[in-house]
Amino acid sequence: MSLKFITAEEAASYVKNGDQVGFSGFTPAGAPKVVSKAIAEKAVKEHEAGREFQIGVFTGASTGDALDGELARANAVSFRTPYQSNKDLRINLNSGKTAYVDMHLSNLAQELRYGFLGKMDFAILEVADVTEDGELILTSGVGISPTIAHLADKIIIELNSNHPKFIKGLHDIYEPLDPPYRREIPVYSPSDRIGSPVLKVNPAKIVGIVETNKPDQTGGFTPADEVTTAVGENVAAFLVKELKAGRIPASFLPIQSGVGNIANAVLGALGRDSAVPPFTMYTEVIQDSVIGLLRSGDIKFASGCSLSISPALLDDVYKNWEFFKDKLVLRPQEISNNPEVARRLGLITINTALEVDIFGNVNSTHVLGTKMMNGIGGSGDFTRNAYISIFTTPSIAKCGKISSIVPMVSHLDHSEHSVKVLITEQGVADFRGKSPIQRAEAIIENCVHPDYKEMLWDYLKMSKCGHTPHSLNMSNAMHLEFTRSGDMHHTKWE
Ligand code: COA
Repeated sequence: MSLKFITAEEAASYVKNGDQVGFSGFTPAGAPKVVSKAIAEKAVKEHEAGREFQIGVFTGASTGDALDGELARANAVSFRTPYQSNKDLRINLNSGKTAYVDMHLSNLAQELRYGFLGKMDFAILEVADVTEDGELILTSGVGISPTIAHLADKIIIELNSNHPKFIKGLHDIYEPLDPPYRREIPVYSPSDRIGSPVLKVNPAKIVGIVETNKPDQTGGFTPADEVTTAVGENVAAFLVKELKAGRIPASFLPIQSGVGNIANAVLGALGRDSAVPPFTMYTEVIQDSVIGLLRSGDIKFASGCSLSISPALLDDVYKNWEFFKDKLVLRPQEISNNPEVARRLGLITINTALEVDIFGNVNSTHVLGTKMMNGIGGSGDFTRNAYISIFTTPSIAKCGKISSIVPMVSHLDHSEHSVKVLITEQGVADFRGKSPIQRAEAIIENCVHPDYKEMLWDYLKMSKCGHTPHSLNMSNAMHLEFTRSGDMHHTKWE
């Protein structure tokens, strides 16, 4: 087959109203940038002409603004899964314009293969290279690319010259068989490679190749402040204590770290703490801080699903490829986030909560119980299967008007059975071996902000009966007070 080059507009012309479209990448890393925008422009024209045009959008995780933002503003998304973090798309999900299925990220590829989510019409894949016989070198994110490439009727390629061809070998492409034929996934250490450096697709399905050179639309991080630094230092101190107690082996265990500013600050603190030995990562998103720690030798190897780092830093990694090439691997998300592998490797997982209750249940997704923030992402894949699962959160939000710790979470993502440790800037609550009341005492004493301690002690004292004591008529009083007066400080238990 000879390669056929087309424009983004021509590529978009093939996509029809009602199509289900899968996109490559994971976070803005590796997500298509020009065909998605052209599809959004087509949607606007179709709507102006009085015709319906919406598609179902399947991705690895969040994407860049050129995908989720453009399509959301064009009202071109009827269905979206499994995760997002775009402000315009968030408005559409919360107003009911777009149906959203918030899903554990490791599950999506197999649910597509099982046929639970309908057929895939198009796979739109960003690549660093493509050959005539259908060998693709992916770019900075893998996501669900192997699965959508195999399932889709047609493939559109975005060939992005921003990613050099010499990154061949960065990826380890492996798709498990489905039950009843599935075997163990033979990853026994974060650096094990079990698949192919290229994604092989049927070349006859490629309808065209669109050339581009656009960088990933990855945002930078807010520099660590007093609160995120304190959270990070508390995590590092907790892990050093576990190491000294012999509950973490002297060679340490691989770390999984979630997304965002706190996660970045936690990794920084782990790197700075000389009592933490050089460690490996088996994670989903490789963030900016990991690159610095690979350079300094504090991290020995990082396995992930995407290199979700700022464009300038990515250029630098590519410039120093000889140094980085044997320290990084990118895998499909059903492998990077695989529960079997997480349990086998004994991961120490560190994710961020929006809200936690005094018994250790975590809400990672819904602001005040109803409004979707982003989604559960990979946090559930890792938390449930970790060696030690840690959640971090600042003890207060909105300048103190919200306590992140409440009597009962307004939405549940991670239950008390899966969460082992809570860490705020105030301190650490270790749930292991503790009953619900003992957990509540540890959380209120060590993690709650001083402004809300007395309030939560009063709630616990007032809620006398049962194994997990609650006053059900009062358990949402702090949320209701915030909705009423804009400040949880005014909550009264009456
Ligand atoms: N109630 C209401 N709002 C709250 C809140 C609470 N208890 N706690 C925080 N917020 C608000 C903040 O004020 C902020 O609002 P703003 O955007 O208007 O400023 C917003 O929620 C985000 O808080 P922030 O502290 O900036 O969070 P973050 O960037 O560290 O992200 C999560 C936190 C939970 C949203 C994010 O980590 C996430 O989406 N996690 C789920 C997915 C995941 O864990 N993925 C990784 C797995 S590998």
